[in-house]
Amino acid sequence: MSEHELEQENQNIEEVQEPEQGESLFICTANRDFAAYAQEELRRLFGSVKSSVLSDREVLLVKLNVSEQNAIQQISDSRPIFLRHIQPVQFEREGENAGELLAEAASFILSSKVMGAGVKVALQVRKSADAGEESSSQLKEWLEELLRASEAEFVTASADWIASVYLTDSAIYAGISRPEDNLSDWSGGAVRFRREEGQLSRAKFKLLEAEREFGLDLSAYRSAVDIGAAPGGWTSLLLERGLKVTAIDPAKLHPSLLKSPNLTYIRKNASEVKFKDNEFDLLVCDMSWSPKLMVQLVSGLLHGLSPGGTAIVTIKLMHKKPMALIKEVIASFENSRLQVQRAKQLFHNREEITLYMIKY
Ligand SMILES: C[S@@+](CC[C@H](N)C(=O)[O-])C[C@H]1O[C@@H](n2cnc3c(N)ncnc32)[C@H](O)[C@@H]1O
Repeated sequence: MSEHELEQENQNIEEVQEPEQGESLFICTANRDFAAYAQEELRRLFGSVKSSVLSDREVLLVKLNVSEQNAIQQISDSRPIFLRHIQPVQFEREGENAGELLAEAASFILSSKVMGAGVKVALQVRKSADAGEESSSQLKEWLEELLRASEAEFVTASADWIASVYLTDSAIYAGISRPEDNLSDWSGGAVRFRREEGQLSRAKFKLLEAEREFGLDLSAYRSAVDIGAAPGGWTSLLLERGLKVTAIDPAKLHPSLLKSPNLTYIRKNASEVKFKDNEFDLLVCDMSWSPKLMVQLVSGLLHGLSPGGTAIVTIKLMHKKPMALIKEVIASFENSRLQVQRAKQLFHNREEITLYMIKY
């Protein structure tokens, strides 16, 4: 299927019937406008995929032709780029009264074996924009009230189980799963960080999320180069983690960073910069720039990264064929001795994805 057809497909609403033996039902979430690509990732794994849109261009109800456990295994193993979050649907009820639907979902959750004494359960409640007047957090409070009789302990992190509920204007869907089976243990894969006072840019969240998603410990690195560093969100995080940072950008870094003894600021276009060999063990690049030129620029500076060093790079998805573009960029980096470990559209990525690579 061409990527143009993919986008059209995203507009189609099919009726997803209840799963039969050997089938499974999931609510799948991608970043806004990227659901069609998440669906394509599923199609490449499972062949035909029946889906309907629950929330415009980001949340799909998907029926797969394999069992739930099998689907979870295959999806996790495939490390999808655009599919951000999955939640199994084991209970489904149609109706328009949110209170009644929530009560039915609560009965389903109570009847499940996981609600025993001392078991840590995270309740994750989401809704489509057209579902009732209450916010997701109000619905979650209602649900918690309805589940009070259970002896489970309700938590927001480090849960043994996640009970997921999704409400639309005409139905409710619920399922119980292990946190590691949802691709992300955040509700809908929406990774929320608290904005700090004096935070220099929202871009900082991207690097924080990359650190978490790729299982990195930034404080374990010694010396980083940040290409396209201004105003300085990524640089500030690296400095906080105790690294020496060389920040390159013709634009101004925030003045609060300039007094850091661990910062070297090169106020130039990165194409005019030369490094010594193996100066850095971490290279990060977050330029909002044409991917082709970004690849050229990063490849030209790679001698500065020591073998075994890590590169974290955002790729701007400039035109309408992200799958083809990502493939091209990965192939170019692999020609430059960068081995791609993961490619992921992070929650904090907008029209872009993030690559985690290691130089060999
Ligand atoms: C999205 S901003 C980076 C935000 C940064 N990561 C942060 O956390 O604050 C992109 C930056 O890339 C810089 N940039 C674009 N082309 C560049 C080039 N050829 N060399 C160096 N910097 C460049 C821009 O000046 C801009 O400041």
